[in-house]
Amino acid sequence: MIYFDNAATSFPKPKVVMAAMENYFFNIGGNTGRSGHKMAIEASELVFDTREYLAELFNIKDSARMVFTKNVTESLNLAINGFLKKGDQVITTSMEHNSVMRPLRYLEQIGKIKIFIVQANQEGIVDPVAFEDILRKEKIKLIVLSHASNVTGTVAPISAIAQIAKNYGSHTLIDAAQTAGAYPVDVTADGLDMLAFTGHKALMGPQGTGGLYIREGIEIEPLMRGGTGSNSEREIQPELMPDQLESGTLNIIGIAGLGAGVKYVLEHGVMKIRQIEMDLTEIFIRNAAKIAGVRLYGPQDINKRVSVVSLNIFGYDPSEVAYTLDRDYDIACRPGLHCAPSAHKTIGAFPQGTIRFAFGPFNNIEEINISLKALNQISKRKE
Ligand code: ALA
Repeated sequence: MIYFDNAATSFPKPKVVMAAMENYFFNIGGNTGRSGHKMAIEASELVFDTREYLAELFNIKDSARMVFTKNVTESLNLAINGFLKKGDQVITTSMEHNSVMRPLRYLEQIGKIKIFIVQANQEGIVDPVAFEDILRKEKIKLIVLSHASNVTGTVAPISAIAQIAKNYGSHTLIDAAQTAGAYPVDVTADGLDMLAFTGHKALMGPQGTGGLYIREGIEIEPLMRGGTGSNSEREIQPELMPDQLESGTLNIIGIAGLGAGVKYVLEHGVMKIRQIEMDLTEIFIRNAAKIAGVRLYGPQDINKRVSVVSLNIFGYDPSEVAYTLDRDYDIACRPGLHCAPSAHKTIGAFPQGTIRFAFGPFNNIEEINISLKALNQISKRKE
């Protein structure tokens, strides 16, 4: 099987990820911060180490400002629901995934917030000036946007947007689902207030892991309250981070795997991983563009994107192409709307959607060539 669905979840994972999970399962055991015995201490150290690796990767000064969640959707819900108050105004973009859109639209529906949408161009590019135009007229509490689109791979200028937000006393929440591990993210240099990420994509961890970074000085309400193993004499949620936002037993086995995945990324280097992915992406885009009937979406300039590529073949429904690729060529891609209907409207691919190819560091040029040949043959069938 040729796996080109790394934007949905990465596969394969480095062997060290499974080894770390097995090591926790068979040799460590124990719950974090709950007891004082050796097994509990070892589990706490494992969770602390993963927090530190993530802090190093994202340049977070104090790793206690990073809380674990089960995925980026939970991280975004925690940030959106925990930070916004009645009457707040928010800017987001037309490229967002439903994990941003749905929590925001719900708060709008119940009359809690007002939303302003920055329209991206057909390549999925957003202009920082468009954010400033709104900020000049309206009091905006939060700007929420994805670092890179899960439909077109387009990278947003988050550093410029965060700077503009700061100038107007606003804040930023970045959805790094498609960039964490695959594109540099530096919360300090980029001046980000909150960063939501998932563990099971380019960070190489298992499903059920993710996190949220919250800058010091930003207060958010927990999604859940409960046992933290700290301040147990009180019936009130502790304010101490990360405990305040991490009630209940953590997914320790998942965090063990995530730690190994992040360590792998740190050792190999985000830029080296990006180089492998972008070399493949560049060859794929350049040659797919030459196939009669193929329409590519997103920027042609690979410096403006990650390795997520959407396309359509004239005369075909995207699902038909994905089904043929799977059945006849053993190639796994994702067709449809990718949980981002507004992004598909923006690029002119609504309601049918696109076929999405998402390359990872374990793909190679032979696989790219096979997929190009397959697309060529499929396109010829409708000529
Ligand atoms: N959000 C993930 C994707 O785009 C699951 O496929």
